[in-house]
Amino acid sequence: MNFQQPNVKNFKRYTVTTALPYANGPIHIGHLAGVYVPADIYVRYLRSTNQDVVFIGGSDEHGVPITIKARQLGVTPQDIVDRYHEIIKKSFEDFGISLDIYSRTTNQVHHETASEFFKKLYDTGKFIEKTTEQYFDEANNQFLADRYITGECPHCHNLNAYGDQCEQCGTSLNATDLINPKSAISGNTPILKETKHWYLPLNEYDDFFKQWILEEHKEWKPNVYGQCKSWIDMGLQPRAVTRDLDWGIKVPLENSEGKVLYVWFDAPIGYISATKELRPDWEKYWKDEETKLVHFIGKDNIVFHCIIFPAMLKAEGSYILPENVPANEFLNLENDKISTSRNWAVWLHEYLQEFPNQQDVLRYVLTATAPETKDNDFTWKDFQTRNNSELLAIFGNFVNRTIVLIDKYYEGKVPECLELTTLDKEIVEEIKVIPQKVAALIEHYKFREALTEMMS
Ligand code: 2FM
Ligand code: ZN
Repeated sequence: MNFQQPNVKNFKRYTVTTALPYANGPIHIGHLAGVYVPADIYVRYLRSTNQDVVFIGGSDEHGVPITIKARQLGVTPQDIVDRYHEIIKKSFEDFGISLDIYSRTTNQVHHETASEFFKKLYDTGKFIEKTTEQYFDEANNQFLADRYITGECPHCHNLNAYGDQCEQCGTSLNATDLINPKSAISGNTPILKETKHWYLPLNEYDDFFKQWILEEHKEWKPNVYGQCKSWIDMGLQPRAVTRDLDWGIKVPLENSEGKVLYVWFDAPIGYISATKELRPDWEKYWKDEETKLVHFIGKDNIVFHCIIFPAMLKAEGSYILPENVPANEFLNLENDKISTSRNWAVWLHEYLQEFPNQQDVLRYVLTATAPETKDNDFTWKDFQTRNNSELLAIFGNFVNRTIVLIDKYYEGKVPECLELTTLDKEIVEEIKVIPQKVAALIEHYKFREALTEMMS
């Protein structure tokens, strides 16, 4: 399509990131619909208008989910991430997600970048140090960070909330908020024990966030803006950026044995490390105000990309901030929440075994039913109907008839254009404006509507 740029503010280049999936399992249709297909459409559109763009992805290889999986299977965390990094990378390649790089956070360059970032904030006094009581599993002689602890969510009373987040209501939690906490390793009730950590005092950025998001980014999607507003209205609290764990990036300070950077501190820095790996001139994609930074994520990642990571970037001082964070809601499967632990998902590698070479059908259906404004449902019935009635009966038939008739009546050559009727002229005029309409919708992250416009 011959797009024209409807951009109001003109940017010289784009940095487009996709949430780094945890390398502790394969990926499913929810990942594709929520993050990677919309991001890929956006980037392909930018490239088609000759924009300078880097499209960044990679595996999130630290954090408790990885160590839990390793423990379950009796292997090392490195074994787990090596295995799933390759599987996930292949799925993205198979589904045409045209990332410029698919990196990983166990890379040396990432460890160095994240350590330097932490050190700079430490050296410039951007952290506070606090000794607090945290849960400790006596049987395993280990502190219980994040997902190592489960219990009842104090907000929605889900009995299986984690120490860092309740997946049912999406609330971000502290382990000590949980009712009836239990160790995910031993099942025992943990004790509280003192430990020292470094915190980013988000409370000091209150005014900044009120201005930057609530005033200057009213155009963000309502689901994103609303979640940010409720966080800011509740009053931001200091967030620990280190953990007592033996898997992760070591805290680059003396006397900090057994402590690593919090996975949500290191993972978004992974976008920067990956860009470094990709381009020697990476800095212009992260430090030039004429670069538009856009993060594609799912709704459970909103607080990390709209509040915590921007606070880190702001504290560091030399980076740009995201211009937009078009987070999607969740995709359900046959009216039930997609769940890795219950194996309720359509895994991408399994889809391809069932429907070889049919990636575009899935991309089409996931775009048509994308959970852009609310959670949405994927059903096989709908998949079948959209394939048969829309792709085959409408699109396929249109292309097929055009070609067959040109072949039959015009010897396979596009015939000369004769005198146009009034109706012909009207249609030609209508067709001319479609590319701009589609472009404007893509620019505003309305991929479903853009698809409808294309099909019509
Ligand atoms: O929710 C997740 O799957 C996280 N691994 C996303 C990380 S996004 C980024 F910050 F790296
Ligand atoms: Zn909850």
